[in-house]
Amino acid sequence: MTADFPNLTVVHHPLVQHKLTWLRSTDTNTDSFRNLLREVSQMLVYEATRDLPTELQTITTPITTMDSPVISGKKLCLVSILRAGNGMLDGILAVLPLARVGHIGLYRDPETLEPVEYYFKVPADIAERQVIVVDPMLATGNSAVAAIDRIKEAGCASIKLISLLAAPEGVANMLQHHPDVPIVTAALDSHLNEHGYIVPGLGDAGDRIFGTV
Ligand code: URA
Repeated sequence: MTADFPNLTVVHHPLVQHKLTWLRSTDTNTDSFRNLLREVSQMLVYEATRDLPTELQTITTPITTMDSPVISGKKLCLVSILRAGNGMLDGILAVLPLARVGHIGLYRDPETLEPVEYYFKVPADIAERQVIVVDPMLATGNSAVAAIDRIKEAGCASIKLISLLAAPEGVANMLQHHPDVPIVTAALDSHLNEHGYIVPGLGDAGDRIFGTV
């Protein structure tokens, strides 16, 4: 957590920061970008799931029996904000293979930077699940706020957001509209430029994941 943003956790782990450097660099090609994003997403989800409840289960090791922790409580649902969120799914699903996955399609109107919804498909029982929203870039925060509005409308009470990079504007927007939603990120960058891009950022995450530059 930072002093300004009690809703934000920045993961300063050297592995995360090292990989983030290469995600930012224009020297990194599409293949490497995808691999790095998958790896960093996996590391960010460790932080986002730090407080998952556990219960003891009795097991037998080759040596003895013991009571050992297993994850308990609500089941998980990842919600990807299309299309860049999909670049984070594989890595997270490698860690949370039983999670369900929802998708929300929102594009940013280039004039207003406001989100416009074109797709919404989530599991029918999402209200009973703990939700982790994934979107690599928390820029204005308008898409994340709109996506979380919809997820709350569907009845969810327990929601977190994982973003690779965050801008102060987006974190402040989230704090204003969804102060109950913790955000986990690899870096809090400086600001947004006049086109709504994060500075220094890494450019358009969707373009870099899908090679559509
Ligand atoms: N979306 C992106 O992909 N990049 C930004 O810098 C901001 C929003």
